[in-house]
Amino acid sequence: MTNRLLEVDNLQVSFHTRDGENKAVRGVSLHIDYEETVGIVGESGSGKSVTAKAIMALIQPPGEITGGDIRFAGESVIGLPESKWRKIRGNRMAMVFQDPMTSLNPVKRIGQQMTEVIRRHRGLGRTEALKEAIEMLRQVGIPEPEKRVRQYPHEFSGGMRQRVMIAMALSCRPELLIADEPTTALDVTIQAQILDLLKELKAKTNASIALITHDLGVVAQVCSRVIVMYGGMVMEEGTVDDIFYRSKHPYTQGLLHSIPQREGKGRTRLVPIEGSPPDLLDPPQGCPFRDRCPHAMTKCAELPPHFTIGEGHRSMCWLNDETVQAQIRNGSLKEGGAASDGEALS
Ligand SMILES: Nc1ncnc2c1ncn2[C@@H]1O[C@H](COP(=O)(O)OP(=O)(O)OP(=O)(O)O)[C@@H](O)[C@H]1O
Ligand code: SF4
Ligand SMILES: [Mg+2]
Repeated sequence: MTNRLLEVDNLQVSFHTRDGENKAVRGVSLHIDYEETVGIVGESGSGKSVTAKAIMALIQPPGEITGGDIRFAGESVIGLPESKWRKIRGNRMAMVFQDPMTSLNPVKRIGQQMTEVIRRHRGLGRTEALKEAIEMLRQVGIPEPEKRVRQYPHEFSGGMRQRVMIAMALSCRPELLIADEPTTALDVTIQAQILDLLKELKAKTNASIALITHDLGVVAQVCSRVIVMYGGMVMEEGTVDDIFYRSKHPYTQGLLHSIPQREGKGRTRLVPIEGSPPDLLDPPQGCPFRDRCPHAMTKCAELPPHFTIGEGHRSMCWLNDETVQAQIRNGSLKEGGAASDGEALS
């Protein structure tokens, strides 16, 4: 029996814009097993949200899935009619979006919004659904839920709204929960509470969770496996230990150095990766990180394949190729320097 709940295979998504085709996702393959929590990390614009939306069949024009396959519980779900999707989305897969205010209706009471969702997906009566809504709010740590269900979204703080969104997503007992930056808009204390909540709910519900964030610190707290994205591609994938202690990709290593380090009282030290992500309207042919990579070499003008480092650990970087390693050792290939100098490096 396979352990795969979700399998994404060579997914490609483009946005047809006035300036041309924005190739936001360029051949992403990933999987999420039953009952596991996977972090999807990468800088802004790396294609995390677009991948998540494609998984939920929420890509709308001018966006389009141009290739690849997505299997959920063993069945291909790409191109399913919307009528079928309505049975999956919100039911078997649910998503919590970055800004809870945009996903809650400001003129409807929280209880009404929650009961609508619960009734639609679980077929409960009004009273039963309200009871369930109150119970879910209690589970996500909202005090006095009986009173809270009668209130409107603006009467909730940002952290509380995010809890409501998580409660709504979980009220239908999904097998897969995708949480897209559920803590980014929140302050640090509330962030920690939401992460604890996710951990707790995970233990209770056995749902698989894909947690999208650009914060590797968050991933270390909650996830068992990590997928690192850049320029619409997966750069590296592995367990939390693979990624934090045995990373084999310069981009991941750059991200690790850009985690804020506490230096005494409230001061943080950040080493951002210099430069900016590739232009997805005209993406580079070779390694997408080439322009910013401290190890770039002429070879990197060719798109690297994913090299297997160990079980479940793979990295898309030429430095993992044995022939390249031998050439670096004998001096016929030189590392170091941005790819713009690449020709001079050979
Ligand atoms: N509706 C859209 N129209 C045109 N381009 C889009 C649209 N949505 C996303 N894109 C493009 O897709 C690319 C990937 O965006 P995506 O939102 O997936 O990034 P992300 O990794 O989630 O970043 P962030 O951390 O900022 O949320 C970006 O270049 C973005 O401009
Ligand atoms: S060494 Fe080359 S292939 Fe590896 S990340 Fe740097 S530019 Fe990409
Ligand atoms: Mg995003």
